[in-house]
Amino acid sequence: MKTLHSHVSTSIFIFILSLLYPFHSLAIDTITFSQPLTINQTLVSKDEHFELGFFNPGNNNLYIGIWYKQIQQKTYVWVANRDTPITSSSGNLTIISNGNMVLVNQTGTIVWSTNQPTRAGNTVAQLLDNGNFVLRLENDEDPENYIWQSFDYPTDTLLPEMKLGWDRKSGITRILRSWKTINLDPGTGDYSLMFTVRHFPEILLMRKETLIRRSGPWTGRRFSGVPEIKGRSIMQFDVEDNSDEIYYSFKLVNSSIYSRLVVYSSGVNQRLVWADTTKTWSVYWSFPGNCDHFGECGPSGICTANPAPICSCMTGFHPKNKQAWDLRVGLDGCVRNSSLDCRSDGFKLFKNMKLPETSKAFLDQTINLKKCGEICKTNCSCAAYANMDVTEGGSGCVIWEGDLIDMRQYADSDNGGDDLYVRVGASDLVCIVHEMTNMPLNIYLF
Ligand SMILES: *[C@@H]1O[C@H](CO)[C@@H](O)[C@H](O)[C@H]1NC(C)=O
Ligand SMILES: *[C@@H]1O[C@H](CO)[C@@H](O)[C@H](O)[C@H]1NC(C)=O
Ligand SMILES: *[C@@H]1O[C@H](CO)[C@@H](O)[C@H](O)[C@H]1NC(C)=O
Ligand SMILES: *[C@@H]1O[C@H](CO)[C@@H](O)[C@H](O)[C@H]1NC(C)=O
Ligand SMILES: *[C@@H]1O[C@H](CO)[C@@H](O)[C@H](O)[C@H]1NC(C)=O
Ligand SMILES: *[C@@H]1O[C@H](CO)[C@@H](O)[C@H](O)[C@H]1NC(C)=O
Repeated sequence: MKTLHSHVSTSIFIFILSLLYPFHSLAIDTITFSQPLTINQTLVSKDEHFELGFFNPGNNNLYIGIWYKQIQQKTYVWVANRDTPITSSSGNLTIISNGNMVLVNQTGTIVWSTNQPTRAGNTVAQLLDNGNFVLRLENDEDPENYIWQSFDYPTDTLLPEMKLGWDRKSGITRILRSWKTINLDPGTGDYSLMFTVRHFPEILLMRKETLIRRSGPWTGRRFSGVPEIKGRSIMQFDVEDNSDEIYYSFKLVNSSIYSRLVVYSSGVNQRLVWADTTKTWSVYWSFPGNCDHFGECGPSGICTANPAPICSCMTGFHPKNKQAWDLRVGLDGCVRNSSLDCRSDGFKLFKNMKLPETSKAFLDQTINLKKCGEICKTNCSCAAYANMDVTEGGSGCVIWEGDLIDMRQYADSDNGGDDLYVRVGASDLVCIVHEMTNMPLNIYLF
């Protein structure tokens, strides 16, 4: 009798506990066929970095999202059904018999699905500690053999280890797309951040089809015009281009520091870092900053000044539209004072440059800078040249023809500029028109 009594009271005690701590027993990171995720439950990654569950951003719709478990102010890094919200008050995220994970609304209609071909075997969905939500076979010997992963379908945020770019085999293209309305509507908005390779790897910020900003070409270590941080930093950047995939990604040296790259619905593009000491996200880098708008100073114009965006013309050039120029509207750029005669022309070195836009550039990986200069000199249509890869003393050759667009010059080499050799008339070789002011260090970094 005594044992039965204590057994019953223990059961009651556990029952009461489970009422008091309804989430406690749900600290799991996995959804299975028999264990869906319902409205008031969440998944928590193993080391409690990330949490996944239903959320309502304030527009009366329900979404499945991922946020930082340790950060009180909800910061959503991924949304599953951004364009197909649940408009009722309840739903389930569940695995169905064909192995896919689906989100159903109150009446059982599927509003979102991982949408993969049917596989034999049981699948499970798991929230990993890097914020990746993956679908895999329960008994797969290779736990990284994902059937589907949220990292392939980014929302507006690039987390460490996520890849911006594409998978040549699967054809999956990973692009960040802003929310429709900041903090309110996670639906697909107008701004996107994408990785492209026209001639060089570059990151582009677009508003619909319009180019707003480009990063500057990748020169082996970083994007031209994108400085490395002094003191070799908390972050590492990577561009891979191989037969399987091509992408940009970053990682943090210390995984207990959080950082994310976000595109907002206003077109603002920021890298933020979580400062545990202040319990806030600090802006590490932000666009727009000065000189950041694509082609701000027009053809042959160089953006240099800080804090105000002030354009200047290269040596031997003058503003095409002086009136606009004086109003600090530089879009018309600069034109040559005297035309080139090809034979007597020389080259002027501009240091610490964000290299011009490369869509019409030619490149040759096999030749060095000296040879590059010789080729440029003998070809009248060559307007400028530079090294292609700045690592290990420099190699390769880039040749620009026609207008040089979207250049920027930094105060010193710490800011990530490169050397650019620009064709000028013989008479312009001697005079130095380009004066640089002493400007504060600005941190530009993707
Ligand atoms: C979920 O939680 C809310 C508020 O805590 C509650 O009103 C609602 O009934 C719960 N829903 C379910 C299905 O448990
Ligand atoms: C569930 O979704 C379907 C399709 O979007 C919709 O027709 C239906 O009204 C929804 N049910 C509820 C309860 O919102
Ligand atoms: C969600 O799953 C729970 C538990 O399996 C079930 O009781 C409930 O009816 C489901 N709700 C919906 C909307 O499918
Ligand atoms: C990582 O960062 C945390 C928090 O800032 C710090 O406490 C810890 O010492 C760092 N670890 C390493 C290996 O630097
Ligand atoms: C180019 O022309 C502008 C205006 O016509 C003049 O101010 C500038 O000094 C000239 N530069 C050179 C290098 O001759
Ligand atoms: C000059 O260079 C361009 C592109 O690099 C090339 O198309 C053209 O044939 C070259 N002309 C000569 C004379 O080499």
